[in-house]
Amino acid sequence: MGIFCLVLVILQLSWSTYLKIDVESWNKSIDCCSWEGVECDNVTGHVIGLDLSHSCLVGSLFANNSLFQLHNLQWLDLSSNYLGGSLLENTSCLFRFHGLQRLNLADNGFNGTISSKLFSQLVSLTHLNLSNNGFYGLIPHQISLLSSLVSLDLSFYSYESRFDGQGFDMLARNLTKLRNLALDDVDMSDVALTSFLNLSSSLEHLSLSECKLHGEFPTQVFQLPNLKVLDLRENENLTGYLPNTNWSSGLELLYLSNCGFRGSIPASFGNLTQIISVDLSKNSLEGQIPDVFGNLRKLTSLSISSCNLSGPLPITIFNLTKITFLDLSNNHLEGPFPNHVSELQFLEELRLYDNSISGGVPSWLFDLVSLTSLDLSSNNLSGVIKPDMLSKLTSLMFLVVSSNSLLSLSTSGNDLNYSFPQLTTVRFSGGRVRQFPSFFRTSNLEQLDLSNNMISGGISKWEAEGWEGLRWTNSLNLLESSIPILKELEQFIISENKLTGNVPSSICNWSSLVLLDLSENSLSGTIPDCLGNLSYLETLDLEMNNFIGKIPNSFVNNSELRHLLLNDNQLEGLVPSSLANTTSLELLNLGNNKLTDRFSGWLASLSSLEVLILRFNRLYGSLPHSIASSNFSALRIIDLSANEFTGTLPTKLLRNLRAMKPRERVTSYSIVFGAFELNITFENHVNVTTKRLEMELRKTYDIFISMDLSNNQFSGEIPEDVGQLISLQMLNFSHNNFTGPIPTSFGNLVALESLDLSSNKFNGGIPSQVTNLTFLEVLNLSNNNLVGPIPHGNQFDTFDNDSYSGNLGLCGLPLSKQCVNHRGLDPPSPLVVEHEGSKIPFFWQVVMMGYGSGVVIGLSLGYIVFTTGRPWWFVRKVERDWQYNFTKWVQRNKVRRN
Ligand SMILES: *[C@@H]1O[C@H](CO)[C@@H](O)[C@H](O)[C@H]1NC(C)=O
Ligand SMILES: *[C@@H]1O[C@H](CO)[C@@H](O)[C@H](O)[C@H]1NC(C)=O
Ligand SMILES: *[C@@H]1O[C@H](CO)[C@@H](O)[C@H](O)[C@H]1NC(C)=O
Ligand SMILES: *[C@@H]1O[C@H](CO)[C@@H](O)[C@H](O)[C@H]1NC(C)=O
Ligand SMILES: *[C@@H]1O[C@H](CO)[C@@H](O)[C@H](O)[C@H]1NC(C)=O
Ligand SMILES: *[C@@H]1O[C@H](CO)[C@@H](O)[C@H](O)[C@H]1NC(C)=O
Ligand SMILES: *[C@@H]1O[C@H](CO)[C@@H](O)[C@H](O)[C@H]1NC(C)=O
Ligand SMILES: *[C@@H]1O[C@H](CO)[C@@H](O)[C@H](O)[C@H]1NC(C)=O
Ligand SMILES: *[C@@H]1O[C@H](CO)[C@@H](O)[C@H](O)[C@H]1NC(C)=O
Repeated sequence: MGIFCLVLVILQLSWSTYLKIDVESWNKSIDCCSWEGVECDNVTGHVIGLDLSHSCLVGSLFANNSLFQLHNLQWLDLSSNYLGGSLLENTSCLFRFHGLQRLNLADNGFNGTISSKLFSQLVSLTHLNLSNNGFYGLIPHQISLLSSLVSLDLSFYSYESRFDGQGFDMLARNLTKLRNLALDDVDMSDVALTSFLNLSSSLEHLSLSECKLHGEFPTQVFQLPNLKVLDLRENENLTGYLPNTNWSSGLELLYLSNCGFRGSIPASFGNLTQIISVDLSKNSLEGQIPDVFGNLRKLTSLSISSCNLSGPLPITIFNLTKITFLDLSNNHLEGPFPNHVSELQFLEELRLYDNSISGGVPSWLFDLVSLTSLDLSSNNLSGVIKPDMLSKLTSLMFLVVSSNSLLSLSTSGNDLNYSFPQLTTVRFSGGRVRQFPSFFRTSNLEQLDLSNNMISGGISKWEAEGWEGLRWTNSLNLLESSIPILKELEQFIISENKLTGNVPSSICNWSSLVLLDLSENSLSGTIPDCLGNLSYLETLDLEMNNFIGKIPNSFVNNSELRHLLLNDNQLEGLVPSSLANTTSLELLNLGNNKLTDRFSGWLASLSSLEVLILRFNRLYGSLPHSIASSNFSALRIIDLSANEFTGTLPTKLLRNLRAMKPRERVTSYSIVFGAFELNITFENHVNVTTKRLEMELRKTYDIFISMDLSNNQFSGEIPEDVGQLISLQMLNFSHNNFTGPIPTSFGNLVALESLDLSSNKFNGGIPSQVTNLTFLEVLNLSNNNLVGPIPHGNQFDTFDNDSYSGNLGLCGLPLSKQCVNHRGLDPPSPLVVEHEGSKIPFFWQVVMMGYGSGVVIGLSLGYIVFTTGRPWWFVRKVERDWQYNFTKWVQRNKVRRN
């Protein structure tokens, strides 16, 4: 065994000593040059190549590691190990340590930084791959000593490893032989983009996704003469333009999605004859797509979605013989499809949704024999899709043509002769379908959405058999029938129809029911008791029907129930006490009924409850003064208006409404669809701009934080603690018997947009602090006993008489009564809230936290694709279902502003 083999044995021991693992297959009795992953120089016997990738190596590369004695090493691959990461997080590795009995990680130096010695010692390296480890911290400057490197892969270290400006600049200047450079996921926010100008002209592969690059990317990089792969994905602050001329002519892969590239796609794009795959989606590209695809014969995947592109569909795209994936969705493309297309025989996924494409659906679309997924939704397409057309698409799984108001589905002829064994999902809402398409009977559909069409008549048993979710909200049609009892479903949605009759208790035989939505029909009778026993039920939505009688008190074991909507019926009696056990309940809407009950203390103890709406009932008594400090911990919206509540406002209740105060959180939902399961994590993305912020948030997720106690008989003074509810946006205490002064702490409610204190018995002056409420759009202080001058400044200069009328003691503009300056006081002027610094940071802090708390905005598709590896259409499917599940109920339950 030569000296170099000894080094390897030491290397092996140094790892195995700590962690009792073996570098498998290294048998000391044979020459190390024949060990797996080891390559020696035939002449000198030096170890020149070492491939230890995917070897479950765990530990740190210490400065004294014997590896560093392999001075002649040219080729080192340590990728996909855990050299520097946290061992315990990487449990997938642990399963290989079958004999592991003791694990001692003391003094291993798991600080995750790379020893600079790795670079200063192994100067012969030509290939270095340290990707997928847990390294973090600054990448040592010594890396630029590796001037022989041809290939350097430091990608996916971890989110904390980074280059500083000098380190990368030296690397770019000194590594003149570099052909392959992959730094994905390394933080390069300190790197000056001009450093890229120094990169070796031999560079073929440059991969810099998620590197936090910002600034304008040098166009010259696109022109590096040998470049084949350029990946700049997910650098959202990177701007730049595509070059008008002199693209690297050998470019094969170009990935620029989710950056800030601007300008148009230049005609010179058509010179990229070697291009195979292009992703320009989510940039700020504009103008027409140049019709220059005629020579891009190798192109298999093209995505230019979510830009600002306009104009016609480029005809030459339809001549791409090899293309399998084409996505031009979410632009402003218009005009018709070409009449005749004979290519595209390999096209598997076609996404053109959210454009303005018009005209008929051409027959060639239905000759695309490889198509598995077709999404043409939200365009202006017309025509009729017939079963014989669809039957040619034998691979089609996912058909989405919703929101094309002139498109219809033929239901005539011998439909039943056709079968669609692959088809699992059809979404055809918002079209001109007039009859239930019977040909789906012979398919294996899991989901069918025929909502918002013109279907009339009932659904028969067989029509609705065979899939797991049925969405049928033909709000415009005359579907008059009683509930069809079908095969067992997990989701049953027949909202906005004209269903009549009772809900049969046999529906409770669907023991796996998760979502039952029969809202906005004309159902009557009582609500079956057994619905409360369905142990998987998450959403029960029976709102806007004619149900009578009592609400079942059978929610004893219902730990899954999250949304209970029984509002706008004629229910009587008590709020069922068994709801005290529904600890997952987030939304409870019992408004607009005839309930007669006190406000039960247990309501306050529902720890997940975010929205509580009891408006327009006959509830009475006072709010509980003896509540625990944990009560109402999640509440965001409370509406008790138009009841018969009395008594004073419990100070403690105001203090406990913590959710109306800021709260950070990440919400995870698990969505189950048939055989699929997907966990989605929504994070709180808050985009701090000016007022557009709110508009955007509201549009996305119509939740806002509000408190409506109007039209009751509440009395007494309003506690100063009301000022703690700093993310309140709507506050309505009107039409009660409140007395005393308006608390000065109202000035803290800086997010408030609507404040109604009218028709009470408030007295005293209007506190000048309220002029801090710069978002206030609606103010009503009328019909009280307020006195003194009306404050001025900010929003307060925009309100008119009506905001103040019926207060005989008020004076000053906009009222005609002038103030007699009897106390020698000027009208109050705006006051700046001093709070941990200046007004602005405090304000944004409030707004950010307020919106952030529980507001679910971003859906991280990248994350889903990454973690599940499922095809895009599945992700999209789930995304849309999510929109249904979670936005619908919120929209329905908008708390009225006035
Ligand atoms: C070294 O020897 C191996 C096996 O004999 C051979 O395949 C390889 O081409 C040789 N390499 C060089 C550089 O001569
Ligand atoms: C990380 O470990 C290296 C090598 O042991 C040491 O030189 C360095 O100071 C350590 N860094 C930190 C932050 O502990
Ligand atoms: C560049 O590489 C050479 C060896 O080829 C080395 O001597 C020099 O120090 C390196 N320069 C930097 C800035 O690292
Ligand atoms: C982009 O810029 C914004 C504003 O400076 C910053 O908050 C954000 O973190 C940046 N994003 C990345 C990926 O660097
Ligand atoms: C690219 O195409 C344009 C016209 O589209 C042509 O004038 C030019 O010579 C081509 N070659 C390069 C390298 O830009
Ligand atoms: C598409 O290709 C065919 C031949 O392969 C050619 O005849 C036709 O002109 C091309 N159409 C376009 C729009 O480039
Ligand atoms: C809650 O459930 C427990 C056990 O299932 C039961 O004993 C208790 O009575 C329930 N509480 C209410 C208020 O229904
Ligand atoms: C989703 O989360 C649940 C519970 O945390 C887990 O059991 C399940 O395996 C997860 N599913 C996926 C697809 O990650
Ligand atoms: C924030 O909002 C502004 C204005 O709507 C928008 O231009 C910008 O892209 C947004 N930034 C992020 C990171 O979403």
